Amino acid sequence: MKIGILGGTFNPFHRGHLSIVKNIKKEFGLKQIWIIPTYITVDKVFLIENISAQERYKIIKYTLKKLKINWIKLLNIEVKNHNVSYTYETLLKLKEKYPDNQFYFIMGEDRYQTFHTWYKYQEIQKLANIIVYRRFISGSYHNKFIDEKFIEFYDEIIYDISSTDILQNLRWDELLEPTKKYLAKRHFYLKTIVFNNLKFKRYQHSVSVASHAKRLAKNNRYRNLKQAYFAGLVHDLFKYHPRNYLIEYVSKNLKENEKLPPFPALHGYAASYWLENEYKLKDQKFLNAVKKHTTAAKKMTKLDKIVYVADKIASDRKGKKIGHERKQAYRNLNFTFAKLLKRQVEKLQDEGIKFEELDQNTKDAYLRYVLKLKSDKNIKKYYQNTKGDYENKWTSIKKINK
Ligand SMILES: [Fe+2]
Ligand SMILES: [Fe+2]
Repeated sequence: MKIGILGGTFNPFHRGHLSIVKNIKKEFGLKQIWIIPTYITVDKVFLIENISAQERYKIIKYTLKKLKINWIKLLNIEVKNHNVSYTYETLLKLKEKYPDNQFYFIMGEDRYQTFHTWYKYQEIQKLANIIVYRRFISGSYHNKFIDEKFIEFYDEIIYDISSTDILQNLRWDELLEPTKKYLAKRHFYLKTIVFNNLKFKRYQHSVSVASHAKRLAKNNRYRNLKQAYFAGLVHDLFKYHPRNYLIEYVSKNLKENEKLPPFPALHGYAASYWLENEYKLKDQKFLNAVKKHTTAAKKMTKLDKIVYVADKIASDRKGKKIGHERKQAYRNLNFTFAKLLKRQVEKLQDEGIKFEELDQNTKDAYLRYVLKLKSDKNIKKYYQNTKGDYENKWTSIKKINK
């Protein structure tokens, strides 16, 4: 039986992989394709979270099962090895176990360029035919160190996409639907895409927000610590996308009853829409917390407040009172949220923005949480201290909103 073999890290498995094996199977008349994920993933330096070999294996297994693809067999021969596996050794094992099969080892032209440095590469050629497929439009793919008499080339460009491109450029459309579902359920690759889409300082901010969110959740008996952590982690994912892109992206994804928010809030909306529509995250609480992290909203859940506050007390925030505010946040989440919201609105006022010009969500949140929470013991105390200033400033606001 003619069997094609495709090894790789599959970090993650994507449409490109499927397309490659589909085409090569047809072209070379192969009966089956065997996919062999590696145990080690040393080549992906930009990946800062470790998706275990077992998980990478399970992602493919789940995807193939859901797509009912039965001509691909998934092998855990290298995954269970718990160490570096040499292609030579893997092929040797397969040849011993299935002596009647004729194996075709499939590799992209990029890997082929260094094929002569692989362990026992000449022996590999005795165990399997080599098929090299093109990935790039220009340049030669030949390797002068290899006797190419027995190398078969598949010249058609199949699919020029890589896992790197997917993770660095948020190309989630290149993943198969079941894969997306599997990843979203576990928040896989979120840390990696945050790292790859933000400047390093903003990435550090995101990680700090994530850990504060998790701690605040724990402190406030909010059970889903993972959700709080990841919502904090991704809240600024679109912070560096260009203004025009954000306006366009948010506009086309707005839901009924939603209005285009002011520019500073666009990145939260964009992140939330991307997570919902491309990443396929179903968790509405999570999505809302990301969306509201700049403007706040009329109804703030515990998670919304956690992310809002965590963002403002992150380790990169400076200011005289920040130490005190951090402590306060852990003592009283509601109070700190109201206080930070009040300060935010006042800051906008100082910048010359009138209350009536604020985003509707911010106005609603202000009127509900800052004004109405006066019955809270701490809030009351806080207002007593700032009474004169506060009353003058906001009596007019109350009138406007009646
Ligand atoms: Fe933000
Ligand atoms: Fe932030």
